[in-house]
Order: sequence, then structure tokens, then C-alpha cells
Amino acid sequence: MKFIKVNNYEELSRTAANFISAQVIVKPNCVLGLATGSTPIGTYKQLIKWYQKGDIDFSNVISINLDEYIGLKGDNEQSYRYFMNTNFFNHINISKDNTFVPSGISEDFDKECEEYDKMIKSFGGIDLQLLGIGVDGHIGFNEPSDVFEKNTHVVTLHKSTIDANSRFFSSPEEVPTKAITMGMTSIMQAKKILLIANGKNKEEILNKALFGPITPKIPASLLQLHSDITVIYSEE
Ligand code: PGA
Repeated sequence: MKFIKVNNYEELSRTAANFISAQVIVKPNCVLGLATGSTPIGTYKQLIKWYQKGDIDFSNVISINLDEYIGLKGDNEQSYRYFMNTNFFNHINISKDNTFVPSGISEDFDKECEEYDKMIKSFGGIDLQLLGIGVDGHIGFNEPSDVFEKNTHVVTLHKSTIDANSRFFSSPEEVPTKAITMGMTSIMQAKKILLIANGKNKEEILNKALFGPITPKIPASLLQLHSDITVIYSEE
């Protein structure tokens, strides 16, 4: 594991964006696993700037997102599809047809989950997976549990996740209680993983996840077994 401690959020964002752009330059038709949340926003902003300067071309990139809230359509401002469009995809030359976010609306979520995993496999898996980490140790929406959930699945969000994410909603009651998330297999099978964490409130869980026992009570702890993981952390 490579652990990079940087001085501030700006440096974190630039370093993470460098990793992603290196991946896109080396393999222009790569599969990027992307994440939502406040941490990657600066990374996406930096990538947009480099795209606008003409330094990166996303036209052949495929992106696969980790998760989505159940019950929210893609045009809902709180949905992760909307987040990705507004914070990243609308500003670069990626083809929207090549961007995948699980659907939060489905008649048959078992089928939706199965198809998401099949879709990931059909692209040969993920080249570089970007991850944030929740204060409870979740990655994607793989919440603490008695088992590591292997496949894409529907999950009931934990109170700490709902509380943390309520800052994006007008009240905690509005936060959806369920989500659909990529499982641990697709994440662990990514060729490279880039985990970004910002702020003192992430330090304790990061230490536990990266240096403590591997346990499904802290889903991110499984990342210790990945052979090519880089962690970028800023205290600020
Ligand atoms: P954050 O979320 O980037 O908004 O802190 C991280 C996560 O919950 O995965």
C-alpha cells in the first residue's frame, strides 16, 4: 500500500487527479470506477481544468459509479447520477452512453444488481477505482455488516451514513434510507485502487481500516489485501 499524506484539500485533489489522468493517458479506453461525496469534487474540478486546457481526452473512457440512492431518479438533484453529470460528465468529452451509475428506480432490483455486475464484467473489470471512505468505514455503500457483500446489492443505510449525508439534503428525513451499491468483489478486482480521505474526522477510521484487523465491521479494511492501492489523506 502506498500512503501519501498531503497538506491540504487542494493538494489531495491535484494528486488524485494526477493519478486519474495518468491512467487515462496510458490507456485512453480505460474503465474508471468513480465515486460521489464531497471528497472527490476537487479531483473532478481539477480534471475538468486539465480537459479544458486540452491535456486529457475522455472520449474513449468508460466510467462505472459505485452507488445510487434507492427511490431517486437520475434527474433528482440529490441523486448520484445528477451529481456525476453536474460535477463532472457535463464538463468533459466523455460519451454519456459510456457512463454507468446504478439505477435507483427499478421494478426488480435483483435483476438490476445482477445486470450491473454483468456489465462491469463485460468491460473486463475496472482499471482504476476511486474511493472515498465513510466515517463508519463504508466504501461505496458497503456498510458495516457481519459479512463482506460480494455483489452489487441493495443496502439499508446506517444512521451514521444518513446523518453524514444529511448535509446535502434540507432535513435528515429526506435522506433515502436505502441504496444500491457495487459489492466488494468488483471493487477488489479493480486493477488499481485510489482511496481519498479528507479531514481530521476521517483519521480514526482510516487508521482502523488500513492498519487494524480485516473485518466486515469495517468494509474498507478488506482493501488491505489489494495489491495496488494508493491512499491519499489530508488532515485539513
Ligand atoms: P464524503 O463521503 O466524501 O462526502 O466524506 C465519503 C463516503 O461516504 O464514501
